[in-house]
Amino acid sequence: MLFEPLGQSDINASRIVFGAWAIGGWKWGGTDADQSISAIRAALDSGMNCIDTAAVYGFGLSEQLVGEAIKPYKRQDIVIATKCGLRWDVETPTLHAESEGKKIYRTLSRESIQWEVNESLTRLGTDYIDLYQTHWPDPLTPADDVLDTFDELISSGKVRAVGFCNSAKADLEVATSRLSFCSDQEKYSMVDREQESANLPVVRSNQLAFLAYSPLAQGLLTGAVTADRTFAPSDLRHGNPRFSEVSRRRISALLTVVDSVAKEVSMSVSQVVTAWTLQQPGVSHLLAGTRTTEQAAHNAAAGDLLLSSEALSRITDAANRFEGFDQ
Ligand SMILES: NC(=O)c1ccc[n+]([C@@H]2O[C@H](COP(=O)([O-])OP(=O)(O)OC[C@H]3O[C@@H](n4cnc5c(N)ncnc54)[C@H](OP(=O)(O)O)[C@@H]3O)[C@@H](O)[C@H]2O)c1
Repeated sequence: MLFEPLGQSDINASRIVFGAWAIGGWKWGGTDADQSISAIRAALDSGMNCIDTAAVYGFGLSEQLVGEAIKPYKRQDIVIATKCGLRWDVETPTLHAESEGKKIYRTLSRESIQWEVNESLTRLGTDYIDLYQTHWPDPLTPADDVLDTFDELISSGKVRAVGFCNSAKADLEVATSRLSFCSDQEKYSMVDREQESANLPVVRSNQLAFLAYSPLAQGLLTGAVTADRTFAPSDLRHGNPRFSEVSRRRISALLTVVDSVAKEVSMSVSQVVTAWTLQQPGVSHLLAGTRTTEQAAHNAAAGDLLLSSEALSRITDAANRFEGFDQ
């Protein structure tokens, strides 16, 4: 497994990170607690040291499961990244989403962040968070004010470093002036490449970490979403145009090229997708959403795969030809 510091911080994180959204169950058709805890431990035992979760994943459940899973490990050997700013227990002027009978609101007010960090620490069973991130921007709280609150958390020792997710480029530029600000987390994969011209140039010129989320396009880029695969109605992939027959056919054309490289390097399609993503300029870490021990070990095994420049360009050419998702 290759490791890289989170930006200019002294936090050394495995380049492949355990993505803990799906184990929360919410939007992923439910969860199994024992299986989730085993999956996290399998990831740690296979060389990952970093886990990305959020307060809102399963409305606290993902953080709780992470806290339970890491109990047998030394705390200093694990890098915990979590997020604040999406609340399901209070109403604010900014509705973020409505799902499974719950309304989720955005807020990054000082009072809210100060409350949320203590809730997360309790659920995670720890007295510090390695990387604390805003989940989504709050239109009512300027980035500078959020960063002031984050500085207070750093001073109190509750948090070691901070970052943004789903950030506007302008906010990212504001944040680079703060010493403790080290990362940007955005959607990025072979089929979602908008960040190449959006935040990645800012990330690169300011030596920030870039954490790519949904790098497997929520399963589409693993080869496991075949034409006949179905999803439970409470799974976000059910009825989603990105998972339509047309989209799957277009993905399949791309994966034919990935598969030819996979055969040459004796790895799987998802492992080659992982390696390609981690070799894109500025991408430092990749968050692989993982639910089972098998997926954990499999995803970790791609942690030191380096593709040749010829293989990389063959895949990039195919990704450039990707026709896009069904509308
Ligand atoms: N900041 C944000 O707003 C944000 C948004 C989205 C995600 N994230 C973070 O990024 C992480 C990853 O994103 P994601 O979960 O959306 O998508 P993802 O990592 O692209 O895909 C995850 C899905 O891929 C499948 N998968 C994973 N490993 C596999 C393997 N080895 N073989 C076959 N299938 C495999 C699993 O599908 P099955 O469930 O079908 O097995 C899994 O649920 C999240 O967990 C979260 O930490 C952050």
